[in-house]
Amino acid sequence: MPSLYSQITLKEHQLLNRLVMPPMVCFNWSDEKGLVTEEHIRHYEKRGIGQVGLVVVEATAISKIGRLASSQLGIWDHEQVQGLSKISQAIQRKGSKSLLQIHHAGDKAPKSVTLEPLAPSQYELSDGRSTKALTIGEIKGIQKEFLVAALRAEKAGYDGIEIHGAHGYLINQFLSPLTNLRKDDYGGSFDNRLRFVRELLTLLKDNLPKNFIIGYRHGGNTPTLAEGIEISRELEKMGVDLLHISAGIAKEEDLPQPPDGFPYSWIVYTGTETKKSVNIPVIVVSEIRTPKEAEALIEQELSDFAAVGRGILVDSQWILKGEKGQSVNPCLRCKPRCFYLIDGRKCPQYPIA
Ligand SMILES: Cc1cc2nc3c(=O)[nH]c(=O)nc-3n(C[C@H](O)[C@H](O)[C@H](O)COP(=O)(O)O)c2cc1C
Repeated sequence: MPSLYSQITLKEHQLLNRLVMPPMVCFNWSDEKGLVTEEHIRHYEKRGIGQVGLVVVEATAISKIGRLASSQLGIWDHEQVQGLSKISQAIQRKGSKSLLQIHHAGDKAPKSVTLEPLAPSQYELSDGRSTKALTIGEIKGIQKEFLVAALRAEKAGYDGIEIHGAHGYLINQFLSPLTNLRKDDYGGSFDNRLRFVRELLTLLKDNLPKNFIIGYRHGGNTPTLAEGIEISRELEKMGVDLLHISAGIAKEEDLPQPPDGFPYSWIVYTGTETKKSVNIPVIVVSEIRTPKEAEALIEQELSDFAAVGRGILVDSQWILKGEKGQSVNPCLRCKPRCFYLIDGRKCPQYPIA
């Protein structure tokens, strides 16, 4: 029986266990330049010391106009590589593996980043701005920026990348008919909406070393659970090595409904349903609070990996404590929102051991 605490091999990489730290932006730790700070290095080093099997480093912008915040880390400039390599080294020192999440916000770039965010189609945003529909030339340019970012991540010593295809950002916008209103080869039919990501994966597979992990964070309910699963199957065919299932762009009424008694969130349910339909490893995430909850997902083979976000933010020793049967520090679920979304240094449990 698989266990949360047992090793697992991914390509030629041996992972210490099946716990994943999902990507989480450290808001306001960097600035316009998007450079890594000492605070970032300490933050990730602690999770390496805490023996998290796989650490996915926070969404890192492939271009300035694609940022989700003006303090987001970037990988659009070669000068950003050195700092990013200090993070990968800090994670790997005690045996953890590291992926870098590469990201373009599309229409979710805030006013502080651009007055005219890029998107598959032109439409009005709720704050009065209008998106700019990408031309074919601009689409090819963004795919190239993703490739350059992936090559830089490899140079910075990461074991792989995670493409951010969830949470309503650019790639998710291409996949969803709610935001992709294009009439050309990149919009309309299921195949056309997948074209952006299909071309991107071809580009990455052709140019990256064989052993470099290509992970993909998928909005698994985009635009419904059934179609989200179809997309996952296509991603597997395109050569994705690892699927991380989170939330995507869908109508409220189409949100997946776990059966009565399912003890996890609908996002975890989306991941467990996806796992039944693909042969590549799957990570599930959202609201997993205790090592026992994570362990049950792995033991029952509902998932290959369990990602714990806020739990690991407030307890870097999460997996070590779990293995010893000790309780972990609980995240306090601050209202109206998590302090890490403003500045993690304001979290009531910061700094943690
Ligand atoms: C402060 C913060 C920053 C986040 N940043 C990212 C990110 O960079 N990329 C991403 O895909 N998800 C991001 N997320 C979502 C998390 O990866 C995760 O899916 C979410 O916190 C749910 O997991 P949890 O309930 O275990 O915390 C962020 C969440 C938080 C709280």
